[in-house]
Amino acid sequence: MSRIANAALRRKVMSAEAAAEHIRPGDNVGMSGFTGAGYPKAVPQALAERMTRARERGDSFRIGVWTGASTAPELDGALAEADGIELRLPYQSDPVSRRKINDGTMEYIDVHLSHVAQMTWEGFLGRLDVALVEIAGITENGDLIPSASVGNNKTWLDLADRVILEVNEWQPEKLFGMHDIYYGTALPPNRKPVPIVAPDDRIGTTTFSCPPEKIVAVVETNAPDRNSPFKAPDEAARAIARHYIDFLDHEERSGRIPHGLLPLQSGVGNIANAVLAGLSESGRTGLTAYTEVLQDGMLDLLESGTLRMASATAFSLSPEGLERFRNGIDFFSKRIIIRPQEISNHPEVIRRLGCIATNGMIEADIYGNINSTHVMGSAIQNGIGGSGDFARNAFISVFVTPSTAKNGDLSCIVPMVTHVDHTEHDVHVIITEQGLADLRGLAPRRRSRAIIDGCAHPDYRAMLHDYADRAEAGAWGRHTPHLLGEAFSWHERFMETGSMRLPS
Ligand code: COA
Repeated sequence: MSRIANAALRRKVMSAEAAAEHIRPGDNVGMSGFTGAGYPKAVPQALAERMTRARERGDSFRIGVWTGASTAPELDGALAEADGIELRLPYQSDPVSRRKINDGTMEYIDVHLSHVAQMTWEGFLGRLDVALVEIAGITENGDLIPSASVGNNKTWLDLADRVILEVNEWQPEKLFGMHDIYYGTALPPNRKPVPIVAPDDRIGTTTFSCPPEKIVAVVETNAPDRNSPFKAPDEAARAIARHYIDFLDHEERSGRIPHGLLPLQSGVGNIANAVLAGLSESGRTGLTAYTEVLQDGMLDLLESGTLRMASATAFSLSPEGLERFRNGIDFFSKRIIIRPQEISNHPEVIRRLGCIATNGMIEADIYGNINSTHVMGSAIQNGIGGSGDFARNAFISVFVTPSTAKNGDLSCIVPMVTHVDHTEHDVHVIITEQGLADLRGLAPRRRSRAIIDGCAHPDYRAMLHDYADRAEAGAWGRHTPHLLGEAFSWHERFMETGSMRLPS
């Protein structure tokens, strides 16, 4: 049976190729999609073919691509391969896009995910010409049933001049009812409090509404979300998870967080996923999550009863996790709420709930500044995503990483980070497989020793202490001592020799 129960919208069904004709060179297109879930699958590929043909004719056909977050090869990959993305925002993790951004042929704006909707409403990003949104179905009265992610779809549907819908039959019908779409946001001075006081509060509707006259095309698809597998947790990831759980136990015992903890947030990536997996072995029950994405680790926690519910804006599951979710959807749908990303990542709500935020990083410096996004200060890895939304506003803000990368040739604890996403003011705890540095209440010089002793790999510890000693003796100022001529020498050595280690 068709997923399009509304007769008027059924009459707008057409092929992906015909729908793609509604997108013109130079358009800004707001697409659905968040960490490989709920992205349009057919129209972007048809569009990429048009772009390729245009290029072969010697014409340029490039657009602005705005999404919730990262998507998948059928969207980011196809459009980037066709050289069709002029500007990309607010987050990506696609290898082809990454290459083009880093070789300077694609522009990229890396935005806090909670800011994207308001920036669009404020008009800072320019006009939104088209919304291209995957949905799971259309009700009889024309309401749109969201797919496996919500992201910025409400904003795209509200603000775009023209709307193209992909109705994906592959998405489970039982997604209907899991979403909470809040229509109460406004710009200052008319902004009101977002009335969420517990992670399981519902404040909106289960569907999107969209004026039918804006909908120019409806495309039927039946194609899976393509999510990436997670690396199996290695010994370093398991050690990080153990330190994290010890830390939570300690905080609970000291009475700083209540028994049953505070709502958990967990970031993207292999390490954050492994930390969650560890929590399911901790014997806790009845916890909640107020987070951005639901990775496999969250499913484990829901199944084991460690979590009683989770709120997010999208799934980010491995193929195996996806299968588990689909088979257990009756169980999961009662325990998961999917919201717009401006609400899942809302600073006001995160601060009110007192989330315990845990995010991955590229590197930290000895004073606790965090680089989540750039390799060697200049090459983007993915983007800041929601890590800043949570880190700045969390009750406790934790960053996790193995102490080294690339077989030990990179130390993830460095004298000075080459790019700052989270300043020392937003970072409470750093954890590596070596241990943990609790930075709360420590002045900079004490922080540096806590990070070096607690988190740095033994191969780099003496080098870091040596830097800190000499900086404390010789810096211009002794508050946050640095030797500016030397602070990036570790990165320079890596770029020159392939290792941050000193030549023996
Ligand atoms: N210098 C250079 N490269 C480094 C590095 C360092 N100090 N540390 C890690 N890397 C590289 C790894 O070698 C790996 O490279 P590869 O893909 O070529 O193998 C890559 O970065 C990812 O590292 P990995 O150890 O697998 O970590 P991860 O999957 O846990 O991801 C981040 C870590 C930082 C990339 C990821 O957490 C991220 O994108 N964070 C920003 C967004 C975010 O936090 N979102 C949360 C929102 S709620």
